[in-house]
Amino acid sequence: MPEIRFDGQVAIVTGAGGGLGRSHALELARRGAKVVVNDLGASIDGSGGGSDAANQVVEEIRAAGGEAIANGSSVADDLGVERMVKDAMDAWGRIDILIANAGILRDRSYTKMTIADFELVLDVHLMGTVKPARAVWDIMRAQNYGRMVFTTSSGGLYGNFGQSNYGTAKMGIVGLMQTLKLEGQKNNVHINAISPVAATRMTEALMPPEILEALAPGRVTAGVVHLCSADAPTGAILTAGAGTFALARVVETEGAYLGQDVTAEDVRDAWSKIADFTDAHAYFAGGEQTQKFLRKAQVV
Ligand code: NAI
Repeated sequence: MPEIRFDGQVAIVTGAGGGLGRSHALELARRGAKVVVNDLGASIDGSGGGSDAANQVVEEIRAAGGEAIANGSSVADDLGVERMVKDAMDAWGRIDILIANAGILRDRSYTKMTIADFELVLDVHLMGTVKPARAVWDIMRAQNYGRMVFTTSSGGLYGNFGQSNYGTAKMGIVGLMQTLKLEGQKNNVHINAISPVAATRMTEALMPPEILEALAPGRVTAGVVHLCSADAPTGAILTAGAGTFALARVVETEGAYLGQDVTAEDVRDAWSKIADFTDAHAYFAGGEQTQKFLRKAQVV
C-alpha cells in the first residue's frame, strides 16, 4: 500500500500549540499538508492566552520545509473561528481536514463543581468542536471532500471521577459525530473521533516517567493521520494509546419483547434477557432502533 500523503491538501488543527495537536500538525505537514496551527496559548484550566505556542509550531513546520500559518483564536469564539477558517481560505483556497483537538480541564467532584466551570468546559470542548466543524462544513460539502477528526475521551465514553463537565462535553462530541457522519455521506465528508491516551501536560503529573515514555503522542497521531486520509472510515471512535488501537461503539442488546400490556414487574423479571449482550447490535442511525421495536412487536 502507498504511503499516506496530503500534498495539495489544507488542514486546520485546533489546540495545536502543544501536546497531541502539535504532534498531529507536525505529522500532517511532514506528509505534505498545508496546516493552520490554531492555539490560544491557554493554561490547562483555560486561563491566560497568547499565540506564541502556535507560532512556535509553525516555525518547526517551516524549518522542516513545510507550509503553515498560525492562528491564535479561541475555538469557542464565533469571530475567532470565522477568522481561522478565513485565514485558511485566503491563504490556500480550500480546507480538506479539520482536527478538533483543543481542550482544557476543570476537574472537580460533582459536589464541588460550579456551573461556571461546567459551562466553560462545555464551551471549549463541545462548542469548540461544533463551531469549527460548522465553519468548514459548507466548504467541504462544496468540494465533495472532507475529513474531520473530533477528540473524545474515555472520561466521556465510560466516565471518570471528577470529570462530569469534561465527560459530558466529550460524549456530546460523539453525538455530534453520529449525526454529521449521516449528513456528510453524500458529499464524501467523513467524520470520526479519536479517544487518545498520551503523555502531555494534561497527563504528565498523573504517571511515572517510564509510563509517560510509552504514551508518546506520536503513537496516537498515527491513528489520527489514517482518519484524515482518503481511506478513512466514517463514524468510527478510534481509541489509541502506547501503540494499541481499538474501536469503541455504542451497542444495544437484541432485547426482549414483553407485550403491549407490559408492567414494571415484567421488565424486572426479564432483566437478564434484556441485558443479554450475546446478539448486541451497533446501529448506524437512530431509526434502526425504532425498526427493531416495531419488528419485535410485529407492527411491521
Ligand atoms: P494540551 O493541554 O497539551 O493541549 C491542548 C491545547 O489546546 C493547548 O495547547 C491549549 O493551549 C489549547 N487550547 C485550550 N483552549 C483553547 C481554546 N479555547 N482555543 C484554542 N486552543 C485552546 O492537552 P492534550 O493532552 O494534548 O489534549 C488534546 C486533546 O486530547 C484535548 O481535547 C483532550 O481533552 C484530549 N484528550 C487527551 C488525553 C491525554 O491522555 N492526553 C486523554 C483523552 C483526551
